Amino acid sequence: MAKDADRSATLSIGETTIDLPIMSPSLGPDVLDIRKLYAQGDVFTFDPGFTSTASCESDITYIDGDKGELLYRGYPIDQLAENSHFLEVCYLLLYGELPSAQELNKFETLVTRHTMLHEQMTNFFRGFRRDAHPMAIVCGVVGAMSAFYHDSTDISDAHQREVATVRLVAKLPTIVAWAYNYHTGRPLVYPRNDLDYAANFLHMCFSVPCEEYKVNPILSRAMDRIFTLHADHEQNASTSTVRLAGSSGANPFACIAAGVACLWGPAHGGANEAALSMLREIGTVDRIPEYIKKSQDKNDSFRLMGFGHRVYKSYDPRAKVMQETAKEVLELLGVEDNPTLQVAQELEKIALSDPYFIEKKLYPNVDFYSGIILDAMGFPTTMFTPIFALARTVGWISQWKEMIADPSMKIGRPRQLYTGATHRNYVNVEDR
Ligand code: SDX
Repeated sequence: MAKDADRSATLSIGETTIDLPIMSPSLGPDVLDIRKLYAQGDVFTFDPGFTSTASCESDITYIDGDKGELLYRGYPIDQLAENSHFLEVCYLLLYGELPSAQELNKFETLVTRHTMLHEQMTNFFRGFRRDAHPMAIVCGVVGAMSAFYHDSTDISDAHQREVATVRLVAKLPTIVAWAYNYHTGRPLVYPRNDLDYAANFLHMCFSVPCEEYKVNPILSRAMDRIFTLHADHEQNASTSTVRLAGSSGANPFACIAAGVACLWGPAHGGANEAALSMLREIGTVDRIPEYIKKSQDKNDSFRLMGFGHRVYKSYDPRAKVMQETAKEVLELLGVEDNPTLQVAQELEKIALSDPYFIEKKLYPNVDFYSGIILDAMGFPTTMFTPIFALARTVGWISQWKEMIADPSMKIGRPRQLYTGATHRNYVNVEDR
């Protein structure tokens, strides 16, 4: 919790002077508490895109955009990616501390035993067109969970909140894998309790009934690391969507479905799919300058996908780990001379020495290299964002739980700067 304000800022508006308390965080910039501003000053603040606005108080994830630092409950992302594994990171994000061996074993067993979906949901999958984008299927099925798991939708019941949390973490891999199975016309593959979380997901995505599928341990380690890197990221667009939906009292499945929908956009989680398509369109290193030029043309909507970030004004720490993982995986798969990786590395080198990118502090973000790894693993680009959604579900649900448990939680209801017509009276059609 933030310490009580011991300082304040003074704001003068005409004859009115208002003292705005300054709140001090454990890390990051001070916060000006403007909760009483409208009541005392009869003015709104104006901050489209919330570039200077803290929407909530949170203990979960901290980002320092200038240093390129990302902490999950205080632990640096590179240490977690190197030394931990996704379900341990889920426990950390959900409960605030690294688990003991016993706590971890209990949590992993609980998740493993909740990976199956209600059998009736297979009919729900079969209602989609085969060529539906997997994100459309995932968004629909996650929302439909509130139609199948009624006994964990009462948000006022702590036990039901816990059940919904475990169900979402446990079942998203099955939902995403089934979306892929269905999209490619293969049978739905059931989860297996003898495999760990990442290996189970790869098995459900790639195995076929006609032969045994052996999970490559290098690929499942890389998959697990990708899940960890995408698990949470402070108050990004989709997390803010989940919080806003949750603030109305909507059930957790509906809130997470809202987060999935928001993540789909190419400016957010859809960037990994767009980044690989862009790298493929560039095709060869000699065409990079043409695209760098396009991305700086104000009259051209083209942007370098996988570059830039609202918060990171230096290298996204996740992109660093992702680049190392991409090299490792491609080397182990014997495709280190992957042309797409070569274009990506050359594009990064050229962009980072380009005055436009330097001046605007544009660096590769988490989405720039992830697609190269997922492509090498055999996933189609349409599966990149569903995998992002699978991993981010634990972050969304951790933030949702924190908000629900916050006694000061109120429904989110921003105001506006109205610039429309002033008051006028109705005119009958014959008089117009
Ligand atoms: C994710 O918020 C999160 O934490 C998100 C995320 C998470 O984990 O949840 O990190 C995941 O969404 C990563 C971002 C993935 N998106 C992309 O890679 C799409 C490409 N990037 C851009 O669309 C953009 O950089 C954003 C959306 C990511 C950030 O946009 P902002 O903060 O609103 O910045 P902006 O659009 O105002 O850009 C500032 C300037 C602009 O130029 P000017 O108007 O000042 O002249 O930089 C330019 C932009 O035109 N710019 C780019 C660019 N990104 C910004 N120019 C070329 N290529 C780019 N990629």
